[in-house]
Amino acid sequence: MSVLGAQVAAALEFPPGFRWGASTAAFQIEGATAEDGRTDSIWDAFCRRPGAVAGGDTGEPAADHYHRPTEDVALMRELGFGAYRFSVAWSRVRPDGGAANPRGLDFYDRLTDELLANGIEPWATLYHFDLPQALEETGGWANRDTAYRFAEFAATTVERLGDRIPFWSTLNEPWCSAFLGYGSGVHAPGRREPAAAAAAAHHLLLAHGLAMPELRRYAPSAQSGITLNLYPVSGADEEAVRRIDGLQNRLFLDPVLLGRYPDDLLADLAPFGFPVRDGDVELIGAPIDVLGVNYYRGYEVTRDPALGEPAGPEWIGARDVRFIPDPHAERTDSGWQVEPAKLTDTLLRVHRDYPAVPLYITENGAAYPDAVGPDGEIADTGRIAFLESHLRAAHAALAQGVDLRGFFYWSLLDNFEWAEGYAKRFGLVHVDYESQRRTPKRSAAWYAQVIAANGLG
Ligand code: NOJ
Repeated sequence: MSVLGAQVAAALEFPPGFRWGASTAAFQIEGATAEDGRTDSIWDAFCRRPGAVAGGDTGEPAADHYHRPTEDVALMRELGFGAYRFSVAWSRVRPDGGAANPRGLDFYDRLTDELLANGIEPWATLYHFDLPQALEETGGWANRDTAYRFAEFAATTVERLGDRIPFWSTLNEPWCSAFLGYGSGVHAPGRREPAAAAAAAHHLLLAHGLAMPELRRYAPSAQSGITLNLYPVSGADEEAVRRIDGLQNRLFLDPVLLGRYPDDLLADLAPFGFPVRDGDVELIGAPIDVLGVNYYRGYEVTRDPALGEPAGPEWIGARDVRFIPDPHAERTDSGWQVEPAKLTDTLLRVHRDYPAVPLYITENGAAYPDAVGPDGEIADTGRIAFLESHLRAAHAALAQGVDLRGFFYWSLLDNFEWAEGYAKRFGLVHVDYESQRRTPKRSAAWYAQVIAANGLG
């Protein structure tokens, strides 16, 4: 048994050139929300709403990264990162969604140069949940015009940075922006309007389609694409699976990779007035070079009223579906089930059902209640086990022919976990928000070894 066990746990090597790093997002780490011409995003406004964010937390001070890019890049270098994925704050670059603000771009310019000087490849995301509040006041993502404003912001950003940034993502997790932002209202802007959520989903995808030509124009040799949160959906009730998988996965994958919305979803969303115009899907379906996959967990669903928990208001048109938790599952501090095998399934599914496109795991990670021990160490063994099982699952997909080219842990630093505030810690590096002291956790050292070995022992 033990001999067999040793064989099963044999060394796993990743392909040469596999990219290793971690991800962050502007609003979650930067702080400095009123500096150098930045104006409010929807998250600044949402944080002021009583009860919207746990603990009344706001975007200040976050991890104060705006004032510490050099220190943070040095940390990445110590960990041996080959790449770093960050997002650009629209409200810095085009405050209020209006005229360009070169001072806002200066920060990303310096960050990019600092990364390159340290041998770390910059990966930029243009939109990670932080719409300028002024654009929300004209309808936000429910207004088609916002997609055109996004293309302007993309052009301004890529014109300045496109010569040095080799990987670009238009949007991060448009499912969250549309359905948590406008369906359940758990995310900013906190609206609970199913029709607005449906419109937002389409307008976000249109924004992606309108931004791609700007990426082609100003960063012609870069690899560009989109990042989706893909959650595998299972269960014996095929209709429940079809609807939730549709809203979560196919609504985004199909138009981007197949150039059309699935007929069944168009029918499901018709009562909400899904506002697709002639020519939109052609724009959305223009070829991409890379697909970013964010993976955290899966869903088991049913419509049996005797089982599970009812779907929340983010599941527009599928409110009769129920989510079945596994009472025996291990869970992270976010309450999410730990399901590494479903990462393999997710990657295989994209590989099987869609035209070939290089895949990157642009986010995978977990919150744990990390505490600094008396010796000053943060012994986050839960995170190490999580990371190891998910890396093995990613490798299993590679072994089955999936064109997976990199892995980014979420997140480099503890940060502002949206409606959960600062209480949920996802970082490889602990942040003491009072002193802003950074302390690499035990998982950081473990991950650095994986990166150095390009695999697991
Ligand atoms: C996905 C989002 O992209 C990121 O902003 C968030 O913090 C992590 N998931 C963890 O919830």
